[in-house]
Amino acid sequence: MANELCIVLDFGGQYNQLIARRVRECGVYCEIMRYDTPLETIAELNPRGVIFTGGPNSVYDMTSPHIAKEYFDLGIPTLGICYGCQLMAYTLGGQVESCERSEYGKIRITHNGESLLFGGVPAENDVWMSHTDFVSRLPDGFRVTAQSADCPCAAFEDPARKLYAVQFHPEVTHSVYGKDVLRHFLLDVCGFSRDWVMDDFIAQTVAELRAQIGDKKVILGLSGGVDSSVAAALLSRAVGRQLTCVFVDQGLMRKDEGDFVESTFTKMFDMNFVRVNAQKEFLTALRGVTDPEQKRDIIGNEFYRAFWDKIREDGAEGFFAQGTIYPDRIESGKGSKSGAGSTDVIKTHHNQREMPADIKASIAGIIEPLRDLFKDEVRAIGEKLGIPHELVWRQPFPGPGLGVRIIGEITEEKIRILQEADAVFRDEIEKSGIAPELSQYFAVLPDVRTVGVMGDHRTYEHLIAIRAITTDDFMTADWARIPYEVLARVSNRLCNEVDHVNRVVYDITSKPPGTVEWE
Ligand code: XMP
Repeated sequence: MANELCIVLDFGGQYNQLIARRVRECGVYCEIMRYDTPLETIAELNPRGVIFTGGPNSVYDMTSPHIAKEYFDLGIPTLGICYGCQLMAYTLGGQVESCERSEYGKIRITHNGESLLFGGVPAENDVWMSHTDFVSRLPDGFRVTAQSADCPCAAFEDPARKLYAVQFHPEVTHSVYGKDVLRHFLLDVCGFSRDWVMDDFIAQTVAELRAQIGDKKVILGLSGGVDSSVAAALLSRAVGRQLTCVFVDQGLMRKDEGDFVESTFTKMFDMNFVRVNAQKEFLTALRGVTDPEQKRDIIGNEFYRAFWDKIREDGAEGFFAQGTIYPDRIESGKGSKSGAGSTDVIKTHHNQREMPADIKASIAGIIEPLRDLFKDEVRAIGEKLGIPHELVWRQPFPGPGLGVRIIGEITEEKIRILQEADAVFRDEIEKSGIAPELSQYFAVLPDVRTVGVMGDHRTYEHLIAIRAITTDDFMTADWARIPYEVLARVSNRLCNEVDHVNRVVYDITSKPPGTVEWE
């Protein structure tokens, strides 16, 4: 049974995935599609509502993404956001001009109480704006419902045709009532019945997986990350011991993490679990390598080599499963000529390495049970399937593991030092109670030794860098303002408890210009 569909039509805005996530949070299934999706395709999909996203362009730039006027003849309830709002006005005969002063950041708007979108929202409220053009004259049939000091048409609509537009970004948390606005559009304007429910998803997916797999076997590469763990749990519920999870431990996991993954999956789920301990092979392949990209490449190649070897050993006549999720499948295409996204290109580091031809030829097919889900949804399903909270809510961990947090050559000793240091840092953050405010926190081992003093002795030991960030989407991030007392305890413990460490620094770089990881 298909869910009612909302289409998020992508005009190249930076918050498009966020819009889609917010829609799903309202219990409405949605998919992101390119702005130039043929109108016939849209009509065939029969969406109950469409949202035009923002975008970096100006509607008067002929190379910027546009929409055919005939779209509006389809009669689909539509909400235009930012560029999408200007595009709606422009396409239907209104006028868009450059602002004298662009609005950026938190802006106060006042709505006139007439719009369904603002039901229950205070007349004056703060929203997030980011635009240099604005709608200066509305198309026929439209009326203004909200304005700001510098933007006379902050929201407008033609309720008879169910066309709505907001100049601000309701999807970002800075728009205090933004989620209400989206919810009103989806439920009150479009009439969605909120049929996107995680319990239904599990039951339906399990039934589909059983039908698809029949009595064949399934092999899944388990990294221990959230996505592949949830895919494993779902498949285990569907086909039990027909599933074999292959967990390649490259020795670059956090302290005790390999054992934790193994015990979780062997104790909690009905499946075959194979752990391939490949630390030696990884270290050998990495010996003498210091270039970050080369390291990533080697780690990725080694991972898959170990994995494919294992599959060959067991005979791969069944299905191959992976934990690909929806954002992995969306090629954002930002910076591309059209400036707009596309959903048809698979782009993820998991899938970057081609499956060897002999394996491709022997398997029955590829299964990606989470391919339509966002991370939050994957987590919600993980919880419902009984995966332990600490695994479901673990912070992101890069595929190459500690390999990209050990600067310079990777050695057994450096891995041990970093594992210990990272465990101490995480322990202190968790004890301090600030962990829920942080998006990611970890230790780094730069290739630096410094002089110190211990008792009466001079020391010459490793420097540890600690990093903690807050972010909504990991595309930008800020360094976290950890209280000094917590930093002090971390620093004390690192120097006292971790052998070969005599100095600690806190990384206070935001992204950009830094990245989250050091390599
Ligand atoms: P950067 O360093 O690009 O990191 O600012 C953004 C987020 O992505 C994670 N990250 C990775 N995750 N494989 C992954 O699965 C990788 O190769 C990888 N590199 C970075 C990083 O931890 C952060 O959450």
